[in-house]
Order: sequence, then C-alpha cells, then structure tokens
Amino acid sequence: MMLNMQERLKLQHFLTIKKLENDQVKGLIERAEYFKAGGAVAEYSQPIYAVNMFFENSTRTHCSFEMAERKLGIQTIPFDPATSSVNKGETLYDTLLSLNSIGVNLAVIRHSKNEYYNDLINLNNTQKLNMGIINAGDGSGQHPSQCLLDMMTIHEQFGHFKGLKVAIIGDLTNSRVARSDMRLLQQLGAEIYFSGPEYWYSSEFEEFGKYGKVDELIDQMDVVILLRVQHERHQKEVSFSPTAYHSEYGLTIERYARMKERAIIMHPGPINRGVELASDLVEAPKSRFSMQMKNGVFMRMAMIEAVINGRGLGGEK
Ligand code: CP
Repeated sequence: MMLNMQERLKLQHFLTIKKLENDQVKGLIERAEYFKAGGAVAEYSQPIYAVNMFFENSTRTHCSFEMAERKLGIQTIPFDPATSSVNKGETLYDTLLSLNSIGVNLAVIRHSKNEYYNDLINLNNTQKLNMGIINAGDGSGQHPSQCLLDMMTIHEQFGHFKGLKVAIIGDLTNSRVARSDMRLLQQLGAEIYFSGPEYWYSSEFEEFGKYGKVDELIDQMDVVILLRVQHERHQKEVSFSPTAYHSEYGLTIERYARMKERAIIMHPGPINRGVELASDLVEAPKSRFSMQMKNGVFMRMAMIEAVINGRGLGGEK
C-alpha cells in the first residue's frame, strides 16, 4: 500500500540508519521503488538549493546524489573542497554557515571524521545554522544511503529480509558499509555472517553475526556482500598480495559456481577486480553491482525527500 504525504518519513537531517524503524525502512524502499517505476516527483512552488560536499573521493555517491537532486527538481550549487576556503582554514561549520547565508537549504556531506555532523546539528543558542544535513559517509562510521540502496536491492530480489543468510566479506575494520548494513540487516531479521582476514574481524562485530571461512559459507548464503580492501585507510600495508587475498578470501569463479541458484552478489564499489571478486563476475548473472548503483539514485531521492518534508522546504503544491 502506497504511503500518502502525511504518512511519509519526515526528518530534519539524514545522518545514520541507527534510529530508523523497520516500517520507516520499508517506507523508504517503497518510495524509491515508486520513483524507479517512473512515479511523479512532488512539484515544489519554491526553489530548493543543495550543495554536495565531498571531502573524501567519490564517484557513485557524489554523482548519484546529484542525479537524485536533479530528478527532484532541486538546484545544485557546485562546491569543490580543493578550491574552497576550507583550504584557508575555514571550519566545516563556518563553510556551511556561508552556504546557508547565500540560500542553500540542504548539504550532502562526505567526511573522513566519524560523526563530523555533531558540530553541525548540536547548536548552542548563538548558532543559527538552518540546513538539512545528509550524511554521504563519515569516516568508518556510517554510510546510510549505501545501506538503504543495499536493502532496496536485497528486497527487490527476495521481497523480504527475515531469515535471509547474508555474508559480509572483507575489510570489515574500515567499512562504514559493513557497520551500516549489519545493523539494519539484523534489525530486519536477516542472519549475518562475516568472513575475510580474521584480523579485520573484532569483538565489535560479534553481536551482529558469526565469523566463518569463505569456503564454509559460500554455498549457504542468499546474499554475499564483498567489501573493498581500503588500502588508503591502512596504517601500514604489510606486504598485501592481491593474488593471495583473492585465492583465500575472494569470490573466485569456483566459489561463484557453488552459490545457491537465487543467491546474489553485492559490492559497494569501487571494485578491485581480481581481488574481492574475479573480474568476469562483476557483470555475472548473480551480480547486482550495476543494479545497486541504479537503485542508489531512487533511494537517494527518497532520502532527500524525507528531509525536504521534515524541514517543510519547497512549499509542495
Ligand atoms: N559506494 C561508494 O560509496 O562509492 P563511492 O566512494 O564511489 O561514492
């Protein structure tokens, strides 16, 4: 049943999946599926201005948010951290205050600092910042839009979450995708397993799922989420061998052949071909890599819309 305007999610900011209830997640998936099916966007009588501020590299999330904004009829103001006054020492708060003062209503932000957004939302009574913040990834903390597009992609395949066996494999320590997905998948009733090098698995993950070897798990799983090896976040690279990683922990052609008939593979991207998975599997029948990216646009539309509605922007007709 389609939610009406009054029932739709309304948020001041979209920072984490931690406070979302299952019905709210399902509402977002339903809204994203509506947009994907060609459903009309709201008509806004007043302009809405957004800025995308990516202080860490991005292709998918950045371009996908921009596409989502354009599809919603939002005006996007260009911002390049490399040429901005951040390089003169301006703080993130003061940068946003400037953008807000010139009329920007929404900021999509990716930042290397975990929970960077606390300084932007917990204001004292002299601070006047009045912008909706949408978290596009904070350090090793959360990646809410990736998580929700992952949920949409799983839901599209299975129609439910309860009892699904999901393996999250790889660089768990550094992964905001793992930290977001494991939490929401558990809440939605999936059974979670972790794999990859044991030194990337720690007690932090124990409450969400069990560790197992890839070869023991692969033929049992409904969903296999492969994580990128994030070399740029490793303090010291102790002789990493892509071939050895692929052979021990990666999705090889042989392991793919052992997967359940309806099982799917997901990867947040960017992919290290021949490391997390064999290059020929990137576009294999079980791969949902392209579908994740496609779904991301529609899920981000639903997320932005929740903040537009929460802040009463646009004066919807
Ligand atoms: N999945 C993801 O966050 O990709 P980008 O770093 O390219 O945005």
